[in-house]
Amino acid sequence: MPRAQGEVLSSAQFHVPGLPWMKVTIRHSEPEDFQSLREIFAQPGATAGTLQMPYPSADMWKKRLSDRPKGLYSLVACVDHDIVGSLTLFHESRSPRRLHAGELGMAVHDRWQGKGVGGELMAAAVDLADNWLNLVRLELTVYTDNDRAVRLYRKWNFNIEGTLEKYAFRDGRFVDAFCMARIRDTAGSATATTKES
Ligand SMILES: CC(C)(COP(=O)(O)OP(=O)(O)OC[C@H]1O[C@@H](n2cnc3c(N)ncnc32)[C@H](O)[C@@H]1OP(=O)(O)O)[C@@H](O)C(=O)NCCC(=O)NCCS
Repeated sequence: MPRAQGEVLSSAQFHVPGLPWMKVTIRHSEPEDFQSLREIFAQPGATAGTLQMPYPSADMWKKRLSDRPKGLYSLVACVDHDIVGSLTLFHESRSPRRLHAGELGMAVHDRWQGKGVGGELMAAAVDLADNWLNLVRLELTVYTDNDRAVRLYRKWNFNIEGTLEKYAFRDGRFVDAFCMARIRDTAGSATATTKES
């Protein structure tokens, strides 16, 4: 399967275009990663772009990583040995009629945003969804003013399905969010794994 971004070094390591010195490794998170994930979600940018609360505690992240619900895939992006980004893919397996669907959430450390890390995490998640879980529908929610995230999702063929008004309270005011979804063409069209140009 052709990769849409980055030069493949091994099954999980990539160079980011334009930053040849930067080698990003994607792996599953482990319980001992809790401090790094707490740090990412303590960043103002990550808090503003997600539903996480400010001042996340290490204990909360420790529990979250060691007590994962069934069907939750938690990927991390590492540069050298530092965790710089996180993506979760939740495969809802409780209802037989939703076995084809998965929900995504992600955040990159504020210092590492805009450098291609999000694209690498998305490439890994789409590969997992398409080629290993056989998901047909990937869905997510994103604030309407999160231009960088919306751009990334559109590149991966997510379409806006609707707007949720006053979806969440953020920094003193309500903000709207888009529901976005990527429908895999099960007839085998290239749109399943190739980004828009
Ligand atoms: C959204 C997020 C995950 C994207 O990850 P990232 O590593 O920053 O994204 P990338 O570097 O892979 O860039 C994604 C695209 O956005 C573009 N981009 C970068 N900065 C941008 C900006 N300020 N406005 C619009 N687009 C921007 C990039 O150029 C890239 O597009 P390209 O490949 O066509 O050049 C990350 O910025 C983040 O964690 N934000 C805070 C938390 C958040 O919003 N999470 C998403 C919840 S839905």
